Amino acid sequence: MSPLFSRNLGIDLGTIFTRIAEADEVVLVEPTVVAVQLEQQKIVEIGQEALNMLGRVSEEMEVSRPLREGVVAYFEYTYLFLREMIKRVAPMRVFKPQVMITYPYGITSVERRAVHEAALEALGARSNALMVPQPIAAALGVDLPVGMPSGNMIVSMGGGCTQAAVIAVHDIVSGRTLREGGLTLDEAIATYVRRKYGLIIGQPTAEHIKIQIGAALPQDEEMRIELQGQDQISGLPKPFTLTTSEVVDALQDPLDRIFETVRQVLEKTPPELASDVIDRGIALCGGAAQLRGVDTLMTQKLGIPTYLVDDPENAVAIGSLRALELYPVIQRNLPKF
Ligand SMILES: Nc1ncnc2c1ncn2[C@@H]1O[C@H](COP(=O)(O)OP(=O)(O)OP(=O)(O)O)[C@@H](O)[C@H]1O
Ligand SMILES: [Mg+2]
Repeated sequence: MSPLFSRNLGIDLGTIFTRIAEADEVVLVEPTVVAVQLEQQKIVEIGQEALNMLGRVSEEMEVSRPLREGVVAYFEYTYLFLREMIKRVAPMRVFKPQVMITYPYGITSVERRAVHEAALEALGARSNALMVPQPIAAALGVDLPVGMPSGNMIVSMGGGCTQAAVIAVHDIVSGRTLREGGLTLDEAIATYVRRKYGLIIGQPTAEHIKIQIGAALPQDEEMRIELQGQDQISGLPKPFTLTTSEVVDALQDPLDRIFETVRQVLEKTPPELASDVIDRGIALCGGAAQLRGVDTLMTQKLGIPTYLVDDPENAVAIGSLRALELYPVIQRNLPKF
């Protein structure tokens, strides 16, 4: 059937970004953000336009992330957001799209059902949505041979959570989700700047610092950035300079918690599969995995070669679409609602 009539969509509903894949390509990326008019509880902007309003809105408006730590925090906003996103990629309503949507591994069944319900509401009557845990989608998206009986490890560092899993024969053998991710790194930078310089910076500024000069371990070339913070006492804006080594310092604690999560998963993994992982290495994906040197530091801390995959941000969306195509093979490992 022509794709105009029957459409398969893979949806990676993320804390920071939502991505939709179609025909093995990501066709939509939008910040998972809505701007809401509070009195009427009406969504006025969605996605990038809503994000642009962050910190610039009046008291009658709220800019909100409907997901927190990978799970649905505001059901209504989530489904309205999803509805708009699906409408953007599939405006022709001849046939409903067939959807595979992802959720973080290890969340509760109530949290998982919230994702499912939001997708169903977004799709409208007589529709269906299938679900796949993010580590399986990620592994399919980066072409790990997860259908084989040997062990493959994937670690995904998102904005709201970090997931580590060992997968064999399309199933998660052992896994763990830490409800911390890129946002936690931003917070750690903001805390560092407050403690050391007495200056307050917002999450967007902390994220900017992380991406521009941040690293997991000292770099050959020290970078620096000059920004403005708000003095804790006077409340006035004040310039400050931060270097890469300072950011490295600031990030060590949250990074250690991430590595500890990976270690715990390895500990729970049967020895044969763990030895496969040692041979093949650990695949690292997710937006936050792009922090400079995080693969190198993880290799050092765990003693297992860790590599950043190509296109780390899109792996889950692409893989969710592949999970839809593989559905007959993998369905016994997917949740029944
Ligand atoms: N170059 C970079 N260096 C470091 N961090 C980065 C870089 N680019 C993006 N990030 C971080 O990646 C995170 C977003 O990643 P991603 O899009 O995978 O999250 P998500 O899927 O929305 O969240 P989750 O999967 O946790 O629900 C943000 O915290 C962002 O700051
Ligand atoms: Mg994600």
